[in-house]
Amino acid sequence: MANTESWGSRVGLILAMAGNAVGLGNFLRFPVQAIQNGGGAFIIPYLVCFLLMGIPLLWVEWSMGRFGGRKGNHSTPFILHEMDPKRALWKYIGVFGIFTNIAVAAYYCYLESWTLSYLWHSIAGTFNGQTADQVAGFFGNYVDINTSTTGIPFEPIVFWLICLLLNTWILAKGLSGGVEKVAKVGMPLLILFGIFLAIMAVTLKSGDHGAVNDGTVGLNFLWTPDYSSIWTAKVWLAAAGQIFFTLSVGMGSIQCYASYVKKKDDIALNAMSAGWMNEFVEVVLGASIIIPISIGYLGIDRVVEMTQSGGLGLGFKTLPYLFTQWGPTLAMIAGVCWFGLLFFAGITSSLAMGTPVMGFLKDEFGWKHKNAAWFFGLIILVLGLPCVLYFKEGVFDEYDYWAGTVGLVVFALFEIILFAWVFGMDKGWKEINAGADIKVPTIFRFIIKYVTPLFIGGVFVASLPGIWEKITATGLPWQVHAARVLLLLMFATTCWFVRVAYMKRKANLKNWTK
Ligand code: TRP
Ligand code: TRP
Repeated sequence: MANTESWGSRVGLILAMAGNAVGLGNFLRFPVQAIQNGGGAFIIPYLVCFLLMGIPLLWVEWSMGRFGGRKGNHSTPFILHEMDPKRALWKYIGVFGIFTNIAVAAYYCYLESWTLSYLWHSIAGTFNGQTADQVAGFFGNYVDINTSTTGIPFEPIVFWLICLLLNTWILAKGLSGGVEKVAKVGMPLLILFGIFLAIMAVTLKSGDHGAVNDGTVGLNFLWTPDYSSIWTAKVWLAAAGQIFFTLSVGMGSIQCYASYVKKKDDIALNAMSAGWMNEFVEVVLGASIIIPISIGYLGIDRVVEMTQSGGLGLGFKTLPYLFTQWGPTLAMIAGVCWFGLLFFAGITSSLAMGTPVMGFLKDEFGWKHKNAAWFFGLIILVLGLPCVLYFKEGVFDEYDYWAGTVGLVVFALFEIILFAWVFGMDKGWKEINAGADIKVPTIFRFIIKYVTPLFIGGVFVASLPGIWEKITATGLPWQVHAARVLLLLMFATTCWFVRVAYMKRKANLKNWTK
């Protein structure tokens, strides 16, 4: 069949996987989660979740992917099916691994397109000489499609379409010819930009350019451990959610990338390289930009207060204003670094969200690579439009909640049970270790079998009250209800596609054995 692509090189694969994980989540979501949950109080649960949930899931998903790819399966419905062919259930569980990617891409690409626009406005110097309120107002105005007057007509839509086209075009070029190339250029640049901004932030001096605190005040806020939160469920849920989101686990994109790994290639070390690279970018770079700069200018209390109403303000409303305090030249450089970094972080992740759908269409329906890419672009256009038009009504957050938060946990819970208990740890452990360039500590056999499933199960149970609250909330705008219907329809349609594909497979098998 046509779907026999593979990665060009090991470095390319690791960078692409790291690019999948390193995303807007590292620079926008992580700092805000940390601030909202008490800074130093957040870090311990976060690191525990990384060790007991993140790392095991990385190994599980990489090995599931390589296992599936060996038999020509590149998306989770049939990867999961292959692991337990006797039960009909798994391929529908695997639908999550397509659904989540599409639903997340639908809002993520919109967010990604803001970074392009802000990149442009940083170069054009739009924010120079504006007051804090004006810069903040620019964002409010930008996302309000009806009154948007930012200088370019229909600006949010224009940049969104450019962003979608860019994604589609790169996806159409294939893994080694498109995705891998972008990762090889984008990841190093991102790290360079990040190091520059982190140095600017950490060396911020109180009194210089109007700062009221040293940059280290923000760092201390984050890195002074606070054990009082250990018993707070809310902090643990936030930490677990962040680990899922940032590592891209529980969503099917790692399995898809890993399914293009060659049969005998290492996955144990590769998974760790990509995973730890993500943590470096998140905990070292992601933590050292927004937090020290905003606390340096505004103080801890004010910044904590600002994040209570949601996460995206600091990056888009506050930072561009604070950059202008450094004078026009540095403001431009900092703006280009910040939004350029966000753009590269974003696009290497949104590309990863495109591949599972494409893999599915190519495997099951023999689609040409290019057509699959354009089809993905089209779905994101249709599903993303409500986010763009009704951002203020909360469609964006609705997608983020159901797909980018709940969906990940549900899927991860099923997949870890499948891997550790149905497929079984004997086979599973062999899969992880086959071709391995490192010795995976044996303790992880125990962790994957008992600790991780219990842990994820606990997270799921603990989030049930929140889910219930969402479902029973009243007085929501009609757009939010419509968004829910749309998501459900998407899920159902994907199930139907999987069913058709399954019937097709059965028919083929019959003809074959006749
Ligand atoms: N990990 C990415 C980030 O930190 C987000 C991401 C990548 C993602 N691939 C995904 C989210 C697939 C959901 C589904 O920003
Ligand atoms: N609502 C999120 C928050 O409170 C913001 C957010 C959602 C986000 N998805 C994201 C930020 C993806 C970065 C990347 O933080």
